[in-house]
Amino acid sequence: MTASHAVAAPADAILRIEGLVKRFGGLVAVDNVSFGLERGDILGIIGINGAGKTTVMNCINGIYHADGGQIFCNGRNITKLSPHAIAKAGIGRTFQVPRIFHRMTLIDNLLVTSLDSSESDAVLIERAEHFLERVNLAELRYNHGEELSGGQQKLLELARVMMFDPALILLDEPFAGVNPSLCRLFIERIQDLQRDGKSFALVSHDLTSIYKLSNNIIVLNQGQVIAEGGVEDIKNDPAVIEAYLGQ
Ligand SMILES: Nc1ncnc2c1ncn2[C@@H]1O[C@H](COP(=O)(O)OP(=O)(O)O)[C@@H](O)[C@H]1O
Ligand SMILES: [Mg+2]
Repeated sequence: MTASHAVAAPADAILRIEGLVKRFGGLVAVDNVSFGLERGDILGIIGINGAGKTTVMNCINGIYHADGGQIFCNGRNITKLSPHAIAKAGIGRTFQVPRIFHRMTLIDNLLVTSLDSSESDAVLIERAEHFLERVNLAELRYNHGEELSGGQQKLLELARVMMFDPALILLDEPFAGVNPSLCRLFIERIQDLQRDGKSFALVSHDLTSIYKLSNNIIVLNQGQVIAEGGVEDIKNDPAVIEAYLGQ
């Protein structure tokens, strides 16, 4: 299905993007992108390097302000909110290059998300230990961030995101440069969280994982949605094959 035939997402979609545009000088990095994400679904976002995937995520979580279009979370317009307000609205995020605090312990990396919480330290520490346990990092909780491998840093970011219990989690290249056993762990945690009702937008080069996890997929090319649909539609879409293999 091409973008021009894109079906509008229902009004109660957890995420709805309408005509998103982001320019860097003369470069249109995101060019009139529209898509929806149903509550509880995993939306895969694929496309070659430079297609605009990370820029879309940066617009959703407020790091960049869109030059055009609108972003809705549960029907609420979040287009102009700050990253902090967007996190409060229930959208969590991990980064292509993990943004952890290297000189802080793992447990403190999680607790910084809760500095403005009214809950007791004991409750917050118990929660942090629980999420570190979920990503096999509990034994390292007093080690520093810089002691982790790249893959462990990505898992630490996932644990940190879980601390504020977002309904929607944006994952940017979670499997890139991660060894196969940590990848499997990451995939299992995504599946557990989906069973718990979380929704995901998942950017990845790893088509095997995308095809395994996604309910729906959109394909970006030069800032535009060139295809969207279910896994089988995308696998067989000539425009996708052309975009990946034609270059
Ligand atoms: N902060 C920026 N300043 C200038 N150009 C940028 C910036 N961020 C991204 N771009 C450009 O926008 C395009 C899309 O980049 P990006 O969203 O990172 O792609 P992807 O994540 O799909 O690899 C690329 O051409 C990239 O060089
Ligand atoms: Mg990227």
